[in-house]
Amino acid sequence: MDSIDQIQKTALKDIEKAADEEALKSLKIEYLGRKGKLTKILRELKNLAVEERVLTGKKANLLRRELEENFNKKENLLKARIKKTAFSEEQIDVTLPGRKTLIGHLHPLTKIRNEVEEIFTALGFVVAEGPEMETEHYNFDALNIPADHPAREMWDTFWVDETGAANGKKFLLRVHTSPVQIRYMETHQPPFRLIAPGKVFRYEATDASHDIQFYQVEGLIVGKDTSAANFKNLIPVFFKKLFNKEVKIRLRPSYFPFVEPGFEVDMSCIQCAGKGCPVCSRTGWLEIMGAGMVHPNVFKAVGYNPRLWQGIAFGVGLDRIAMMKYKIPDIRFFHANDIRFLKQF
Ligand code: FA5
Repeated sequence: MDSIDQIQKTALKDIEKAADEEALKSLKIEYLGRKGKLTKILRELKNLAVEERVLTGKKANLLRRELEENFNKKENLLKARIKKTAFSEEQIDVTLPGRKTLIGHLHPLTKIRNEVEEIFTALGFVVAEGPEMETEHYNFDALNIPADHPAREMWDTFWVDETGAANGKKFLLRVHTSPVQIRYMETHQPPFRLIAPGKVFRYEATDASHDIQFYQVEGLIVGKDTSAANFKNLIPVFFKKLFNKEVKIRLRPSYFPFVEPGFEVDMSCIQCAGKGCPVCSRTGWLEIMGAGMVHPNVFKAVGYNPRLWQGIAFGVGLDRIAMMKYKIPDIRFFHANDIRFLKQF
């Protein structure tokens, strides 16, 4: 009798404490299973004297029913609790604001390239393109820079493994967009005006205004009376349209084998208003393009008569222009893939 009371006490307490269905199941086995505490008492009834057997049997059976009821109740309670938490977890709050879908946009360099193309096409220029992997012939030789020419040192070049080369041609990543001049002239007759925007590569150390890959826009005007004066008029018009303000430019005599005479064009630094900053190497001026009158040897290389035709060519750094336009202090941001930078445009 004592142990029945004891079992009742502990079992009810245990059932109440059971935290989940698993715990409840093992409790049921502990008390009511085949070898359970209460089952054991019921099995041993046969060993008791008749009177005691009746009393104890009655009590034990009552307890069994009570425990079964309690087990059932607790099981229902636990099941209801699980349902409730699942429901609240899965519930959708229709009043919450929706998640914003991120929409991509054009890279700042693509934007600038589009703008440059619009400005020049409005001025009657056509847009030409050429391959980023070039042959030595188009990148150097046809531009009056033969293999032994010291000017090749001007452009640190990424040479491409020769296993891909055909017909003994050496391949490289173009160091400038000037090869597009040759490709276009080989297939077109003058007069014409073209621009050729595209990616170029240089095997050189980087800093705030130099990267190993950047964009250039080549320009080429060929006609019978084309002169440097055309170029001097054209560039301020281009800059004014692009920057929406007057930009000072200066021409410095310079040397490029494919032009004669050649010059370099600097623009006043918009970043620091000409006062001097890291972008302009503290000079107030930024070198923005190379230019010059097309060399007769270049015309000869494409089969044009240099006595008949005159040309003006230029190659402008697109990244440098974008830096000026958007006031970006370091060219390396363009290819760093930092979303915080890109989101601003
Ligand atoms: C040339 O690449 C010549 N092909 C340009 C040219 C074309 C001259 C036609 C005459 C006639 P240069 O190496 O200076 O020249 O580069 C031209 C422009 O590209 C520079 O003025 C500058 O704006 C930009 N540039 C050059 N190197 C880098 C670099 N590492 N990173 C970013 N921009 C650069």
